[in-house]
Amino acid sequence: DDDLVVLGIETSCDDTAAAVVRSNGEILSQVVSSQADLLVQYGGVAPKMAEEAHSKVIDQVVQEALDKANLSESDLSAVAVTIGPGLSLCLRVGVQKARKLAGTYALPIVGVHHMEAHALVARLVQGELQFPFLVLLISGGHNLLILARDLGNYVQLGTTIDDAIGEAYDKTAKWLGLDLRKSGGPAVEDLAREGDANSIKFKVPMKQHKDCNFSYAGLKTQVRLAVESGSINPEIPVSSASSEDRKERANIAASFQRVAVLHLEEKCERAIEWASKIEPSIKHLVVSGGVASNQYVRARLNQIVEKNCLQLVCPPPKLCTDNGVMVAWTGIEHFRMGRFDPPPPTNEPEDAV
Ligand code: KG4
Ligand code: ZN
Repeated sequence: DDDLVVLGIETSCDDTAAAVVRSNGEILSQVVSSQADLLVQYGGVAPKMAEEAHSKVIDQVVQEALDKANLSESDLSAVAVTIGPGLSLCLRVGVQKARKLAGTYALPIVGVHHMEAHALVARLVQGELQFPFLVLLISGGHNLLILARDLGNYVQLGTTIDDAIGEAYDKTAKWLGLDLRKSGGPAVEDLAREGDANSIKFKVPMKQHKDCNFSYAGLKTQVRLAVESGSINPEIPVSSASSEDRKERANIAASFQRVAVLHLEEKCERAIEWASKIEPSIKHLVVSGGVASNQYVRARLNQIVEKNCLQLVCPPPKLCTDNGVMVAWTGIEHFRMGRFDPPPPTNEPEDAV
């Protein structure tokens, strides 16, 4: 059955991404157009602006993905597209493009859940990864612990009761006056290398809760207070700060990161315990989503996993952040199981979706 070639389209947030993937796991192309400049200009994602940015580049991004794969539309087995969760205005841009292609070339469509795609891309990376496995998804908007029992059969063990860890990284970067052009997370990770992670004793969230849920709002507030009560001047970019000022910012970054990740470690340990009661055969913890590209996060979680005789599966950074490959791959997994929609009619008006 199994020589499929699927185009994946992802527009749920601020990146316009497309990729072509083969069912043997071969990535034929991967294109991401980022709105980083807009983010810096407006200090966040403004849905209307993001929608316009997606609309402007979507045709070009998809064309480039096909060209790089050396394929034309009619060589595809199906089109996969993220249908949620995300900003609805932005999602529509991807869905409309997918339906147009599918209508014109009579291709089946697979609607993909963004978070499922973050999780399942691990099975592309590691071909022998079998269900069931445990998944930690850490991104800007989500913080989830999931027991993946089978394709489409997911048990949520924990989620955040307020913010996700990526949001805490982004705010920390902003308050520390870091260069936001490369997004907050990597900037904090870099600066933290210069700091003393034990210099500020931030409180570890939810110590008293014996569950698998997360909370990052309190830690965010602690960081803000530390910035305000210190002697740093966040109006001055870190690149032109005095060396003492820079050291102080690095100490906050490192102390924040230590506690933010300690919170992940504690909840993962409990989730491993819970999951192995439900599925004693689990052998893997998958960690994915933008924050999973952080080297410190990977190293710390690897320790937890080894201590519990499991294996860590962490996709390469380019597949951890939002991308089209994970969407194409998840499309392949569902298509194989017969889960797809037939091609839409070709005479569909543009605003029917
Ligand atoms: O998965 P993703 O690309 O988009 C969402 O679905 O949200 O995740 C983006 C988040 C942002 O908050 C970004 O700051 C964070 O992932 N991130 C990182 C790193 N790279 C990206 N956080 C910490 N360290 C990193 N190296
Ligand atoms: Zn994402």
